[in-house]
Amino acid sequence: MYTLQEVQKHNKPDDVWIVRHNKVYDVTKYMDDHPGGSSILIEVAGTDATEAFEETGHSEEARDELVKYHIEDLPSEASCNPWNLHARWGQ
Ligand code: HEM
Repeated sequence: MYTLQEVQKHNKPDDVWIVRHNKVYDVTKYMDDHPGGSSILIEVAGTDATEAFEETGHSEEARDELVKYHIEDLPSEASCNPWNLHARWGQ
């Protein structure tokens, strides 16, 4: 499981990861195909781009496209929930 620190390293034009709703996407290969352009993706490279993505009002097609670049999940807020931790520790 990746951490945000790991994601932050992928912030170069030839190595672009972004986070959206706790999911990590490697969009390096998508840069040239992105209708919104590559520079906007470079701007948010290595960060949580959830707001930027949602504010743009991306279409269903864009959301389908996104799935192809999903590589990993960040630990979700739920995993910090004490009840989940109790369950994991068997208490
Ligand atoms: C893997 C991630 C992404 C995918 C697959 C994606 C896909 C798309 C697609 C298919 C469009 C065309 C319009 C539509 O169908 O909604 C689009 C437009 C756009 N995207 Fe993204 N996008 C991604 C990430 C982002 C991010 C993180 C930002 C902002 C930082 C962004 C900003 C824009 C903008 C501004 C447009 C509008 C372009 C225009 O209409 O001139 N996109 N994107």
